[in-house]
Amino acid sequence: MFDFDEDAQVLAEQCFDYIRNRLTNRPQPVSPPTADELRAAVGVTITPDGIGSERALKLFAEVLAPAAIPLDNPKHAALIPGAPTIASILFDACVSASALVAEAWIEAAGAIHAENEALSWIASLAGLPETAGGCFINGGTAGNLSALVTARDAHAHGRRRVACGGDAHSSIAKALRIIGCDALVVPSDDRGRLTGAALRSALAADGDAGSVFAVIASAGATNTGAIDDLAGIAEVAAEHDLWFHVDAAYGGAGMCAPSVRDRFAGIERADSFIVDPHKWLFGPLDCCALLYREPQRAFEVHRQSASYLETMRVDGGMDPTDYGIHLTRRARGLPLWFSLATYGTDAYRDAVETVLANTRAAVAIINADPLLELIMEPDLSILLFKRIGWVEADYLQWAQELLAEGVVFVLPSKWQGETVGRFVFLHPQTSVEMFQATVDAMA
Ligand SMILES: Cc1ncc(COP(=O)(O)O)c(C=O)c1O
Repeated sequence: MFDFDEDAQVLAEQCFDYIRNRLTNRPQPVSPPTADELRAAVGVTITPDGIGSERALKLFAEVLAPAAIPLDNPKHAALIPGAPTIASILFDACVSASALVAEAWIEAAGAIHAENEALSWIASLAGLPETAGGCFINGGTAGNLSALVTARDAHAHGRRRVACGGDAHSSIAKALRIIGCDALVVPSDDRGRLTGAALRSALAADGDAGSVFAVIASAGATNTGAIDDLAGIAEVAAEHDLWFHVDAAYGGAGMCAPSVRDRFAGIERADSFIVDPHKWLFGPLDCCALLYREPQRAFEVHRQSASYLETMRVDGGMDPTDYGIHLTRRARGLPLWFSLATYGTDAYRDAVETVLANTRAAVAIINADPLLELIMEPDLSILLFKRIGWVEADYLQWAQELLAEGVVFVLPSKWQGETVGRFVFLHPQTSVEMFQATVDAMA
C-alpha cells in the first residue's frame, strides 16, 4: 500500500491513462441518475478485502465519473461553471503527489512562496499596495467568512451590523449568522447593484447606523454578474469608518480584462476582497484567493495558539494558516501559480477578453430577436433574458430538453420575482454558436 511496487506501477499507468483520456474527451453534461440507479450499477465497493484498484478505477471511469455535469465542458453555462487550464489540472495531480502541508512556512516554504506570487499578482490587479497579502482558502464562502471574522474582531469595537446589498451572495447571510451579526440590507438599484448613494441614505435613515461596522460589495453578482458601485461604496465606508470587503469570487477575474477594468474602480480601497480562481481564473476546484490590505490585522485575529503550534513558527516566513478560519491546508493556490507561470498573464487577459467578446455577441443575438428581451446589459459574462410569453414551466422544460439533447446545460433563474433564462459565459470555448442553439430552442 505504501511502496511503489509493481502493482503500484500498473496502477500509475492506469491512472495516467485515465487522466489522458479525460483531458482529451470532456464528457457531455448529463441528467443525474437516481441514488437507486447508482446503487444498482455500482454494487458494494467497500469490503474487508477491497475490490482491487482495477475494478474500482473501472467503476469510477465508467459509472461514477460520468454521472456528473462536468464543470469544464464548454456546454456548462449554468450556475458558475469552471474552465481549468490543462496545466492547472495536471499540476493539481503533482501537488497531491507532493504531500505538502502548506499551513506553515516551516512545512512548505517553497510552495507558500509560489502561492504568494500568485496572490501578489491578484492584489496588483486590484491595485492594492505591495504590502497586501493573505492566503488561499477552499472557497468563496470560507473566504467571505474569514474576512468578516477579521472585520468583526479587528475593526468592529462592539458594533454588530454589516451593510450589504439585497443581491449579495447567500454566503454573506450565512457568514453573518455564524459570526452572530445582523445585516443592514440596502435596497439595490434597478440592476441589482448596491450604490454608494443608497448606502449613504440607508445609513442616514437607520436609527442605529452607529452599530454598522462593515460593508460588503459584490464585484460580479452571481445571478447577474453586476458590479456594485465600488468607488461610491468606498467613499461612504471611509465616511462611516466601515470595513470595506469586496466579494469578487466570480467577477474578480474581470480585472485582467482592459475592456471592463474601469468597472472595478474603487476596489483598490478595499480592506479585504476575495476571488475564486476555480471560477474564472481557470484553476481547478477548490480555491479562493483571500486578500487583505493589512494582513497583520487578519493575522492577529486568525492565528491559532497551542503549545505544539508555537514551535512551528519560524522567522522570515509567513504561515498562510494565520489568515483564515482554517489550520491544515492544501497548497491549493499552486495549480493557479503553475498555470500563470506556464502560460503567462497575457494569456489570462486574452482568455477573459474572449469570454467577454462572446457575451457581447450573445447580447447582439438577443437584441436582434423580437421574441427575446435582455433583462440588463451585462457588466461581465452572465446574461439574463426573457422569452416573451413564457412562464416558469416553459423555462424549466427548455432547460431539461437542452440537457437531455446534449445541447447545453443551463438553468433558469429569477429576476424581480419572474422566471427568466440565464446563460453564463465563462469557458473561453463556450461559443456564440452554443448560445444561438440555446435561444433557437426558445422559438
Ligand atoms: C459572488 C460569490 N460569492 C461567494 C460564492 C461562494 O463561493 P464558494 O462556492 O467557492 O464557497 C460564490 C459562489 O458561487 C459567488 O458566486
